[in-house]
Amino acid sequence: MEKTFVMIKPDGVNRGLIGSILQRYEQKGLKLVAAKLTKVSKELAEEHYREHSSKPFFNELVEYITSGPVFAMVLEGENAIKLVRLLNGATKVEEALPGTIRGDFATSTTHNLVHASDSPESAYREIKLWFPEL
Ligand code: CMP
Repeated sequence: MEKTFVMIKPDGVNRGLIGSILQRYEQKGLKLVAAKLTKVSKELAEEHYREHSSKPFFNELVEYITSGPVFAMVLEGENAIKLVRLLNGATKVEEALPGTIRGDFATSTTHNLVHASDSPESAYREIKLWFPEL
């Protein structure tokens, strides 16, 4: 079974969407194996998003992700990494199709509600970073 790291970002927590978002993953058959509601430190945010450190939106991204609690989780299932990204929808708000989490709820590309690992390598790195006890 494959595991993936998923985070409901501050806008999702703030708008009371944890239940609605989690329901979509669970309805698809993915199993919640770890979860925590947590405030993200600047250090963790910068490490998590290190591949974007040279992007023009990096500072805005770190500021946003540290602005309030996030709901971090590990989901498990067959093809979990790909499935979660399909359910999340495209990163850019104008490309996220209706029926996906971002297509239905996201308000901007920065405030796009959810993050999920994009490969087995990033899932391994992100799970280790956020849930070292696993
Ligand atoms: P996420 O899947 O968490 O991975 C990187 C994040 O950077 C992405 O979601 C968006 O929140 C943000 N992001 C990506 N592209 C842009 C962009 N062009 N402008 C602003 N934020 C972006």
